[in-house]
Amino acid sequence: MPNPFFMNSYLGKQILSLVREGDFAHAGEEEAIALALAPVRQDPDQLILDAGCGRGGTAAYMQAKGWGRVTGIDIEPNSIAYATQTYPEPTFLRCDISALAALDEGPFDVITLFNVFYALPDHEAALLSLAGRAAAAARLVIFDYVDPGHYQDDPLMDGDIAFLPNPVRLDGLGEIMEGAGWKLETIDDLEADYVRWYVALVAKIEAKREEIVALAGEGIYEHVLSLYAGLLGALREGRVGGALIYARMSGG
Ligand SMILES: C[S@@+](CC[C@H](N)C(=O)[O-])C[C@H]1O[C@@H](n2cnc3c(N)ncnc32)[C@H](O)[C@@H]1O
Repeated sequence: MPNPFFMNSYLGKQILSLVREGDFAHAGEEEAIALALAPVRQDPDQLILDAGCGRGGTAAYMQAKGWGRVTGIDIEPNSIAYATQTYPEPTFLRCDISALAALDEGPFDVITLFNVFYALPDHEAALLSLAGRAAAAARLVIFDYVDPGHYQDDPLMDGDIAFLPNPVRLDGLGEIMEGAGWKLETIDDLEADYVRWYVALVAKIEAKREEIVALAGEGIYEHVLSLYAGLLGALREGRVGGALIYARMSGG
């Protein structure tokens, strides 16, 4: 196994794309995007920021389905290079979510994060940075893993590093959002959907064994399977959950 291998690396996302048969590294693939964006109006002229866009499949899907003109940003340069080459319609830029002041694009009417928030060490700093690039009545859509309360007592690990480092704590989220200029509107519980999506994902990993081994080797195949089987177990036990969180710019 290359050292270090971790799921948020370029190779990790490449494996997930192969398994998911699309450039998505979030639970539920296209079904999840349609679910998350159901309350968001489709307007080809509105500006959308897909923060932590990965390989660009989500940004391309949103733009192709008429939700708006999408800019995808990600901290990881190989994913941005791949997205730029593969999907000509959206704009893709390398940028850290906590340093969005450096971005010329925007202000954005809609900001989406699909399984990204859990990877950010400081949620308040990220929300502040996102608020800085948001239009007056901007909508924030966070699709992510949640910590029902005691996740950090026994976090899921990917070797020496946390697999899901910082799932969203829903208690106190409203206050953190308010401090960063957002007004928390609704939270939809997706626990049952996450279990269903990860049952399907684990089955797909097993079905794609040969292709994953050809791409990354036997050791990584076993590692990826055990990570997602572990995540499914944690979802079933209620140690971790999933949610859709909607907020608006305060005063918008
Ligand atoms: C699980 S992947 C999800 C990718 C994409 N949203 C999707 O659904 O396919 C998480 C992504 O967040 C990106 N990321 C993590 N921390 C980031 C940060 N501080 N700024 C920008 N992107 C970040 C990672 O590089 C990775 O592409």
